[in-house]
Amino acid sequence: MKKRHVIDLTDLSHKELMDVIRLANEIKAHPADYAEACRGKILATLFYEPSTRTQMSFQTAMLRLGGTIIGFDNPQNSSVAKGESLKDTVTVIGGYSDIIAIRHPSEGTAAAAAMYSPVPVVNAGDGGHLHPTQTLTDVVTLYNEMGRLDDLCIGLCGDLKNGRTVHSLIKTMVTFKGNRFILISTPELSVPQYIKDIINASECDYREVSSLADAMPELDVLYMTRIQRERFTSEDEYRRQHGVFILDKEKLRTAKKSMKILHPLPRVDEIDVEVDYDERAKYFEQTVYGMYGRMALMLTMLKKEGKQVAPRVMPTHPFSCSNPRCITRTEKYLPSIFTEAGGDMLLCRYCDGRTLI
Ligand code: CP
Repeated sequence: MKKRHVIDLTDLSHKELMDVIRLANEIKAHPADYAEACRGKILATLFYEPSTRTQMSFQTAMLRLGGTIIGFDNPQNSSVAKGESLKDTVTVIGGYSDIIAIRHPSEGTAAAAAMYSPVPVVNAGDGGHLHPTQTLTDVVTLYNEMGRLDDLCIGLCGDLKNGRTVHSLIKTMVTFKGNRFILISTPELSVPQYIKDIINASECDYREVSSLADAMPELDVLYMTRIQRERFTSEDEYRRQHGVFILDKEKLRTAKKSMKILHPLPRVDEIDVEVDYDERAKYFEQTVYGMYGRMALMLTMLKKEGKQVAPRVMPTHPFSCSNPRCITRTEKYLPSIFTEAGGDMLLCRYCDGRTLI
């Protein structure tokens, strides 16, 4: 792999991604051949936010490769509770481990951690921003269940604003030709502008709709998502959004027989339990594909030799990121780093937030 860290799945080239998908399938077919592949390696899982699938599938992946695991799933049981910074935490844990998977409620955390970590960092979800290994899970599932990753009509439904899995999935699927997206949400929970800009800059098309039923007959893939209660600032606003889109057997009546239903999980009630028994529902198989995807990704990342030395002094921009959820808001020592996005616009290199100058 050319890049050391995986902040988003687009850190892998097209060839690297396809190699990882094929390796995931190879491991799934011949697990015994890989049972010692990471003997002596240590994965650190730093989970500042709750998780079932991502944390446990990372851990299981390393254990099945013959490695071992350290980490925390509640920062209150670590020295984070005493005020230790992200920089110090990853510097220290990078000295104990060979690879770090980090989840955090603030957007841009994985990119910040990667600046200071001596070992490769994988983003296991940073706030409502990105979730690359969920996307790896999704593409391994699609590759196996659809037989292709191009020429697909993909419906994404629910909380497209805060759903980090949606953002990462779109960023990856626009790199395959012929894909188009139907974005099904309320206006309040529509996809962020920077993701629409990424689609517009690609050869793919999208359209925004508010009716799941209207979109259904066109779809090759329906990607349902949970309304992300933890990202709302008011319970009233959550209640207004919750329950708008619920997939049930009746709504599936007009869907293609070949359509696949994916969901990153956890589900609350946006998919009725009766749908679980429809042969198009692939969300539980998806969780298993994800484990093999993470095995393949870690094996690939660990091939890169040597420790990274963090630069001592980093240049900082005079402007600060305007995103209140950006990691730079709480880890104050982080240098402000932006990409010029044209006109008066700066794009934060941690969280992709837009700042007007
Ligand atoms: N899909 C996903 O990220 O699930 P967890 O929050 O349980 O890890």
